[in-house]
Amino acid sequence: MIEEILSLVHEHEEWRGKKCMNLIPSENVMSPTVRELLSSELGHRYTAKNRFYMGTKIIDEIEQYGEELAKEVFKAETADLRPLSGHIADLIFLASFASASDVLMCVSPDDGGYPGIWKNGLSKSLGLRTVAFPFSKHEMNIRIEQAKEVIEQVKPKVIVFGASLITFPHPVKELAQVAQENGACIGFDGSHVLGLIAGKQFQDPLREGATVLFGSTHKTLFGPQGGIILADKEHGELLKSKIYPAFVDNAHWNRIAALTLALAEMKKFGTAYAEQITRNSKTLAKALHDYGFPVTCQHLGFTKSHQILLDYGGYKQGRVIAEKLQHANIIIDCGVRIGTCEVTRRGMKEREMLRIAELIKKTAFDEENPENIKKEVAQLCADFQKVGYCFET
Ligand SMILES: Cc1ncc(COP(=O)(O)O)c(C=O)c1O
Repeated sequence: MIEEILSLVHEHEEWRGKKCMNLIPSENVMSPTVRELLSSELGHRYTAKNRFYMGTKIIDEIEQYGEELAKEVFKAETADLRPLSGHIADLIFLASFASASDVLMCVSPDDGGYPGIWKNGLSKSLGLRTVAFPFSKHEMNIRIEQAKEVIEQVKPKVIVFGASLITFPHPVKELAQVAQENGACIGFDGSHVLGLIAGKQFQDPLREGATVLFGSTHKTLFGPQGGIILADKEHGELLKSKIYPAFVDNAHWNRIAALTLALAEMKKFGTAYAEQITRNSKTLAKALHDYGFPVTCQHLGFTKSHQILLDYGGYKQGRVIAEKLQHANIIIDCGVRIGTCEVTRRGMKEREMLRIAELIKKTAFDEENPENIKKEVAQLCADFQKVGYCFET
């Protein structure tokens, strides 16, 4: 039994870790030291704010250190690293600022919004009514003037900017005033773009009118899988008072130690990393477009994030492309979203983006034998195994 388990994990490591070109925008790789901290002694322990457990002084110091770093990296008055995932961070925000029958306004999943907060997700559990932002697929963004009208009509209690499919900054600044005047609490789900925000290459929600910024810690923010909440003092203190006992008890302190180190990496290397991501995304998007792939928003320069969107009109056709690429060990989702965060972290630059575009074209258009492409993919990956934008230890 033990051999079987170990060999499955090893097989996965060899395949996804070494031989695949990972282009899923919601994934990334941790630095070796961050990864090491995930299996540290802290993973065996408990701590609690009410000092119920003894033996916690170092754990508490690490958490405090992480919160201070998070506040600095995101220029936030408060930070909380306890949410166990981006989804839980969404839950904490929604449940803290809205009650049953209140209106949540956000991007619809039809336009790339996060399904986890929509009708069958958290809104259902919390009894919230959902209203979608008017959205332009042509611009891949919220329609500002129409959104103002809807906000005035429906008076949402909570508004969530940010989405799962996000290629351009959302108009927080443009809508904040009308949202506040109509009594909404404004949150930004930065699950996808927190690393770009930390690297100052996307938008700055907390300066633009959002009072709470939250999300996953493992997409462009290259930490361990988990969640984070950043906020101004007023909202942050309220959230802190609610997190325990309502939403998180054991926050997995090994994860928090690992996240703390990832935040230190972000502080030092975040800007260089985010700059390279956006250069890589634009280069890859243009190259795919030039090969004839249906890349969205050419008129806007394709993308300003780590994502490139290929418009195949839905998951059905998207799956056909994604499966074809999987046969050649090129891993994307059926969205079809292509992400540059992981390959950038592994040190790839514009030249490699052109190579990736060529490999995608050879697989998806030219229908070359995937076994041959696999070898080219493996070679390229082998040249970029080292994780960058981190401290040498
Ligand atoms: C915008 C957005 N919010 C929240 C989540 C959920 O994050 P997690 O997987 O960390 O729970 C996702 C997942 O990809 C997402 O895209």
